[in-house]
Amino acid sequence: MKKIVLTKSGTDILKGKVVACLFYEPSSRTFSSFVSAINRVGAGAIQLLGMQSSSVAKGETLEDTIRTFGCYADVIVMRHPETESAAFAAKHSYVPIINAGDGKGEHPTQALLDAYTLHSHFPDYSKVTFAGVGDMKNGRTIHSFAKLLANLGTKKFIFVSPEVLKMPEEVVEFIKKKGGEVTEVEGLNEVIGNVDVLYATRVQKERFENEEEYEKLKNKYIITPDTMKLAKKDMILMHPLPRVGEITNEVDNDPRSVYIREQMTNGVYTRMALLKLILTK
Ligand code: NCD
Repeated sequence: MKKIVLTKSGTDILKGKVVACLFYEPSSRTFSSFVSAINRVGAGAIQLLGMQSSSVAKGETLEDTIRTFGCYADVIVMRHPETESAAFAAKHSYVPIINAGDGKGEHPTQALLDAYTLHSHFPDYSKVTFAGVGDMKNGRTIHSFAKLLANLGTKKFIFVSPEVLKMPEEVVEFIKKKGGEVTEVEGLNEVIGNVDVLYATRVQKERFENEEEYEKLKNKYIITPDTMKLAKKDMILMHPLPRVGEITNEVDNDPRSVYIREQMTNGVYTRMALLKLILTK
């Protein structure tokens, strides 16, 4: 898929297929990279970014909305604020559902592009020391990525967060069941020197009930050129984006930063591949 995009050779492997993108929550990258991927494999797209223009605004249930779009599309890509909403939608759907983020639950397609990005730097997943920093509790990208890495054989996980934003027990248990080992700390500087892949996340403002609590925590970790001086020479710094101050702009030029060019472009290739896998079964 990468070759098809980079050589601009184009493909119509999914010509005649239609993909519906139903986004109940804001999105820049996930939505646009799906639409880009859909176009690049020759399929058609129904695009609803924000559901206010659909019958959802009239009070239609998720169940009915999913059934409706299943009549018009061959697969539905859905982002929704409720955890487990994708599983619920899948139960009621005539067509496959791709989870593009369900509340503070999971974000599996981000995990695929993240794993692909990591793999191009560290081909052996089992040898990687992986660390996540920030909002481990509410960040759905880190939940899915950590689980996927555990499935792929990664053994060493470090989660850096304040006590109140700790990784959910369910994810820690999942990793341990796969034979992984989990260390949880509050300070980034004390562990960064041992890390191969550092995955920074945004404190998820929209998941807080109390704005004051968010304000207290939002700037807890800020990665600057000084932070990067403590890191290994071949570490990679990842972030699903958007960032709201967790990584300063000066860090963008560090060759270890992969969040702009690599993660974002890889999102298109992996989503093209995923659509092909699902729709040519
Ligand atoms: C993330 C998300 O929506 O979960 N963004 C993304 O899809 N790349 C991360 C975030 O919003 O912090």
